[in-house]
Amino acid sequence: MFVRRIAVVGTGYVGLTTGACLASLGHDVVCADVDAAKVERLQRGEIDILEPGLAELVAEGMAAGRLTFVLGATSAMRHTAEGPEVMFLCVPTPMGVGGVADLSIVEAVVEEVRELLPPGCVVVNKSTVPVGTAERTAELLGRDDVAVVSNPEFLREGSAVYDFLNPDRIVVGGSQQDAAERVAALYARLGAPTVLTDAPSAELVKYAANCFLAMKLSYVNAVAELCDRLGADITDVTEGMGYDKRIGQAFLQPGPGWGGSCLPKDTSAMLQLADAADFEFRLIRATIDTNTRQRQRMVEKVRLAVTGKRGGSLSHKRIALFGLTFKAGTDDLRDSPALAVAALLRQAGADLVGYDPALSQDNPHPDLTGITVVDDPYLAAKDAEAVVVLTEWPEFRSLDWSRLAELVSRPTVIDTRNLLDPAVARRGGFEWIGIGKS
Ligand code: UDX
Repeated sequence: MFVRRIAVVGTGYVGLTTGACLASLGHDVVCADVDAAKVERLQRGEIDILEPGLAELVAEGMAAGRLTFVLGATSAMRHTAEGPEVMFLCVPTPMGVGGVADLSIVEAVVEEVRELLPPGCVVVNKSTVPVGTAERTAELLGRDDVAVVSNPEFLREGSAVYDFLNPDRIVVGGSQQDAAERVAALYARLGAPTVLTDAPSAELVKYAANCFLAMKLSYVNAVAELCDRLGADITDVTEGMGYDKRIGQAFLQPGPGWGGSCLPKDTSAMLQLADAADFEFRLIRATIDTNTRQRQRMVEKVRLAVTGKRGGSLSHKRIALFGLTFKAGTDDLRDSPALAVAALLRQAGADLVGYDPALSQDNPHPDLTGITVVDDPYLAAKDAEAVVVLTEWPEFRSLDWSRLAELVSRPTVIDTRNLLDPAVARRGGFEWIGIGKS
């Protein structure tokens, strides 16, 4: 395998994972960021992101001299006399006005490195960007001797290192076949199936995959609602569906709706993309609407459980929320379905006390306004009219549910993730209410 000189611009969770993993595959990697304080922390081996295995890989790469951190893209270009052979763009592409991806950071980096890139260098876009961005980047670069390819990432938060090193596939797209092959070769040791294509197709793979996942979840949540109404059991239904190899068991767990930094952003972007192409992508619209409705549905479950009535008032009812992050294994609150449900409960007048294993009461986050965050689940449950499990943290299973039952004012748990063992909760004295579990 060829060892390549690689520059990674952006040390967020995609950039840092990419840099550290490529170094672990034997490449020489320099990672750049514009945040001086962050770069200094990284140079000391301090990682801000909660990502299993990442700190170890960064330490290993630094110790082996294969991973370096520098301030700014320009420094990354000048890190070696020859300059990088491949440059990865891993900068944020936030959702701008009307769900359109904001490419200003990508453009600023391209402008900065335009004249510094050595001839023959390949610029790789890893950020999720609208179809056509690779072509636009090539135009902005205006360099015939530098190729631009798209190489979308498929990393899940909380298992990004694992996903990088055990990919289901590698997708690389560009108009110059040799440049795309050179990028694919960086991953050769991983032995994953590789799709070599043009840039627009590679860019679309990311949206098409994430939207499909969102659609799968909205579908499961809708089937769970039907289970509630028809007296069926969603766990058995999804198990029965999942044995069909064309469907698979993964990503069939119902919940309070999907969230996080990717699926909401990518479904909105897909709608924009389709709109701009004069195509009404109704399936994606329905996927998003079903997700919005799912959050409301969770509130209605709480309302019915607490008041005994469909239209009952939640005003000044104390509700304990177990889990606030968008999924377990992360401290990320971006587009968290738990927070969306919390906001609706608050609108309905409820008083909210929250506990999450990844959050601390001493470190208040602006997104948690309106929720009293405590560091102890038993304190959160004290005098609550209902406990609502919103994130699938496994530790909730092993809480002392008998002790919780003594602390609450009404022993009812609404388990929006079907996480708990109902028998354990019931033995503890709780009424257990799941989703799609009539
Ligand atoms: C996702 C994609 O999985 C990943 O490939 C892509 O690169 C980025 O977006 P991530 O956002 O980290 O990854 O989270 P993921 O594990 O996919 O979960 C997304 C949301 O769906 C979470 O809110 C999660 O709780 C929910 N979910 C997931 C379910 O409700 N049920 C499931 O069965 C799986």
